[in-house]
Amino acid sequence: MRTQVGIIGSGPSGLLLARLLHLQGIETVILEGRSREYVQGRIRAGVIEQGMANLLREARAGERMDREGLVHEGINIAFDGRLERIDFPTHTNGKVVMVYGQTEITYDLMKAHIDEAGGIAQYESPAIRVEDYHTDSPRILYEQNGEQKELLCDFVAGCDGFHGVARQSIPSDQIKTFQRTYPFGWLGMLSDVPPVRDELVYVNHERGFALCSMRSHTRSRYYIQCTMDDKVENWTDDAFWEELCRRLPPEAAADVTRGPRLEMSITPLHSFVAEPLRFGRLFLAGDAGHIVPPTGAKGLNLAASDIYYLFRALLAYYKEERRDLLERYSEAALRRVWKAVRFSWWYTSLLHKFDDDAMNRRLQISELEYLTSSEAGQTVIAENYVGLPYERFE
Ligand code: FAD
Ligand code: PHB
Repeated sequence: MRTQVGIIGSGPSGLLLARLLHLQGIETVILEGRSREYVQGRIRAGVIEQGMANLLREARAGERMDREGLVHEGINIAFDGRLERIDFPTHTNGKVVMVYGQTEITYDLMKAHIDEAGGIAQYESPAIRVEDYHTDSPRILYEQNGEQKELLCDFVAGCDGFHGVARQSIPSDQIKTFQRTYPFGWLGMLSDVPPVRDELVYVNHERGFALCSMRSHTRSRYYIQCTMDDKVENWTDDAFWEELCRRLPPEAAADVTRGPRLEMSITPLHSFVAEPLRFGRLFLAGDAGHIVPPTGAKGLNLAASDIYYLFRALLAYYKEERRDLLERYSEAALRRVWKAVRFSWWYTSLLHKFDDDAMNRRLQISELEYLTSSEAGQTVIAENYVGLPYERFE
């Protein structure tokens, strides 16, 4: 089989790239290791920056998001028994975020690209490795129905997440990696109950971090900081609600509606960046190239900004025979990646319990007091949270 752009992975980055290229008449084949239902069912991110929302509109997959997504103009931060609000529009020249689940985005992209436009996506077809990416004809070796096959392409987009094979196809002396593991995880619970507040609440508490998020007016997503070795089996629904309420300010805890879990899972927290993101004709995008702890809601949004740069680079190649943007992809994408890696690391450090050191805790509270009471401090949080601008790339 041969195509123009071979894409490994049908997560948000692979689907978005395929869809944008298809609308420009550029052919793609997506190879995905898991089933379509499995990919569709994964519960992950929920906050979309304006840059990503605009890209989904450009991909003509943003109608339902615009209809059903919730526009959020601020977040709340709870600490030391207080609840402070950071307003986005006043600190960012009118910017806002959209609350719309990754599962919905994946569904909308699959429907638009595969069901309606007839785009090719081969599920249960795991890639094994990428070869010949330093030639004009790279190949993806993959498996399908127990047989080994190959996909010949002009370019390969490694959109196969952190555990994918695209990055692993690069010899270790040609790639540099940076990483940090945090000494805790997030226990997440999805439940069909109204959210406790209209906007998200990030909580710094002496028992540990908590987050009140949502997917709609009737579906809530809550998280509590847990130990690295904790297990979902250790938690009943009642125990989860009890612990969540202990970490919220009392007036918010009193408003929590409890209900049975639709899903419960544990997410470990890591920061990771690979450099560069381009190796000849192989490009890494999204979680394949970098991951961040979920505290700033940046993971999914970084996948989108990578695709913004990669899509434009591929378009310049196919429409204008230009290679300069392909050559600049890694640098441009990484500049934005590192800023979000820094913000996610800092915001994680500000809100989580790291140890029992009383001095560290006082310093966190003091920093939160300063940030929430200063215009400059609120601007720092707001402008990073709504998403730093994409660079012009043309
Ligand atoms: P992925 O969504 O990981 O997609 C990669 C795809 O490649 C997968 O479908 C995988 O099955 C496929 N694949 C892997 N290996 C192969 C192979 N060899 N061959 C073919 N296909 C392969 N971000 C936030 O902003 N907020 C959150 O709350 C949040 N929560 C998260 C919770 C969890 C458990 C995880 C893992 C991530 C979370 N993230 C969150 C991050 C966010 O979901 C990711 O940044 C986003 O999914 C990245 O999209 P992607 O398409 O690059 O990668
Ligand atoms: C979510 O709704 O899943 C969510 C929201 C904000 C975050 C992380 C996760 O920072």
